[in-house]
Amino acid sequence: MPDTRKILVTSALPYANGSIHLGHLVEYLQTDIWARFQKLRGHECYYVCADDTHGSPVMLRAESEGITPEQLIARVREEHLADFTGFHIAFDNYHSTHSPENQALATGMYKALVADDKITTRTIEQFYDPEKEMFLSDRFIKGECPKCHAQDQYGDACEVCGATYAPTELIKPFSALSGAKPVMKQSEHFFFKLGDCEAFLREWMAGDRLPVESRNKLEEWFEAGLKDWDISRDAPYFGFEIPDAPGKYFYVWLDAPVGYMASFKNLCDRTEGLDFDSFWSPDSEAELYHFIGKDILNFHALFWPATLHYAGYRTPTRLCVHGFLTVNGQKMSKSRGTFITASSYLKHLEPEYLRYYYAAKLNDKIEDIDLNLEDFVARVNSNLVGKYINIASRAAGFISKRFDGKLAAEMDTAGATLIRTLQAEAEAIAERYDNRQFSEAIRIIMALADEVNEYIAELEPWKMVKDEALLPEAHRVCTTAINAFRLLTLYLKPVLPVMSERVEAFLNIAPMVWSDAGTLLADHAINKYQHLAQRIESTQVDAMVEDNKQTLGDKPTESSPTRHAGHQQQEHPPIGETMSIDDFAKIDLRVARIVKAEHVEGADKLLQLTLDIGMETRNVFAGIKSAYAPEDLEGKLTVMVANLAPRKMRFGLSEGMVLAAGPGGKDLFILEPNEGAQPGMKIK
Ligand code: MSP
Ligand code: ZN
Repeated sequence: MPDTRKILVTSALPYANGSIHLGHLVEYLQTDIWARFQKLRGHECYYVCADDTHGSPVMLRAESEGITPEQLIARVREEHLADFTGFHIAFDNYHSTHSPENQALATGMYKALVADDKITTRTIEQFYDPEKEMFLSDRFIKGECPKCHAQDQYGDACEVCGATYAPTELIKPFSALSGAKPVMKQSEHFFFKLGDCEAFLREWMAGDRLPVESRNKLEEWFEAGLKDWDISRDAPYFGFEIPDAPGKYFYVWLDAPVGYMASFKNLCDRTEGLDFDSFWSPDSEAELYHFIGKDILNFHALFWPATLHYAGYRTPTRLCVHGFLTVNGQKMSKSRGTFITASSYLKHLEPEYLRYYYAAKLNDKIEDIDLNLEDFVARVNSNLVGKYINIASRAAGFISKRFDGKLAAEMDTAGATLIRTLQAEAEAIAERYDNRQFSEAIRIIMALADEVNEYIAELEPWKMVKDEALLPEAHRVCTTAINAFRLLTLYLKPVLPVMSERVEAFLNIAPMVWSDAGTLLADHAINKYQHLAQRIESTQVDAMVEDNKQTLGDKPTESSPTRHAGHQQQEHPPIGETMSIDDFAKIDLRVARIVKAEHVEGADKLLQLTLDIGMETRNVFAGIKSAYAPEDLEGKLTVMVANLAPRKMRFGLSEGMVLAAGPGGKDLFILEPNEGAQPGMKIK
């Protein structure tokens, strides 16, 4: 690798219709730490991003607020920028996909693909909302699941049984926008011929461009066959009109990744000597890294390299893919208050504490990462404040009070050895940062902080200063401690940029770069120590969680209506292990009439039920006594599992199981299908 690398790095562009939350920040902080590290190493590195502004959700959201899409995206841009700045995320440029640069680049790319015969048109039939007068994407159609018959399911996947299907398969479909019954309507669409790109993509992926864990996923996609990609949407749509195709717009995901280029182009146009082509031409020697979440891998691993390649651009050096954030081991939840927005975090807590915590957990794997709030408080207090900051606060006072604010010309013998140990780790730490093994970097740094603290505890400078004869030695020991603190600060600088600035001011030194690990401070005047960091009180975290609690329950699709079912917030217990549809088909559910319900001698939870399922009656023991008196049940209908193997119980044979819903105790509800249900009827 060349001495000075040329690096362009991006984070995924956040949608312009939602707020930044702590989940997003996993990505923006990971990227920011990495980009800051590369710059500290002296590389030519640019970190660009933008708002992802196009698509129906933005259009509809603006409409519902009674403003134009342009007004909405201008407002959201300000909010996003305030959040990112608040967390010290230092973009070299933050642009917008709704920009002249992006229009020119996306249109140019499309034309190049047309010229290369990679675009085709086809008439497709799609649901259309006759009231809203617009075509409906899968997420805007609802209806009954064709597999399990759950009501009110989205057009692409059922949240109850997990089935995926085409919206046309929904039973009794309706428009989620107007409630109108959608009609089928034909329209001509433009497609990118992804199917023609398989050989290229296979070769592209064979290199070291993707995390190994994603190989299987890609293999699955290849095996399923690469389908042509629909890149057009009909008016009304907020986006760029396709050249020579009035009323047709680029689908948001066509121009979104082009937004990476557009943001960089905008930077080049404003920066003397920064040349766009030297980063994007096929023979470019620059490195290109995209940090993304696992949910948008297909767009970045299939469509993006293929469209880039066939439009005559270079392709990414590597996709850096991360997992999803959980809070306290569960999906973020609005009702639990763990769907925490960036701005509400900033009201209660220091941004660098989250930077530190994420760094301590992040690695180069696609694993999900958990923000455990108790662990967060504990780690920040014991490691960041207790181990790292503590070193400065233990040594600095003596330097100002006893040694005139000046460091000694040399260190003590043990100190010199300790410092050499710290310096020797600089490259190992750098390697971890470079490979995105941040948790490893932090582990090494904290182990060094432990050594420094042990050293101070052993030499006890606070005792030395009491003895006039030991003063010079105390001076040397405190000088060692301050030098150690400086090195640890340098190692943490990508993670704690503002803390580092404060330390640099305190140490009276120029902004450090990585190669400064080789130098030390001797005979150097430092400034008076000012408190650098406060411990977190758990009440701060409680207040933040309280602020984020929404009693109305979770609105699922706010941040991105195109997300799949799995990303929606829910507060019910997690769904259990999956079973195949064949397993499910084995369960024979029948409507049953409760003909008789009686107490069971010696059982405090059970009732004995006699159930009529049409062709026969069954004896079933059901644990529902906490919720129902026997007389309330007689005559009611319920649903039973009719083919459960009979079970011998202490009180007799139980021939099936009754279904009831609820958390238990008094809140247990027998299902009452009372409209036209007949005993024996099979439940599909
Ligand atoms: N607009 C698209 C990206 C277009 S890139 C050309 C998008 N936007 S997003 O706002 O939904 O997400 C932005 C990034 O944040 C994505 O990489 C996504 O994976 C990441 N995350 C969103 N929620 C997240 C968590 N809960 N946890 C971790 N990352 C998350 O997708
Ligand atoms: Zn279903």
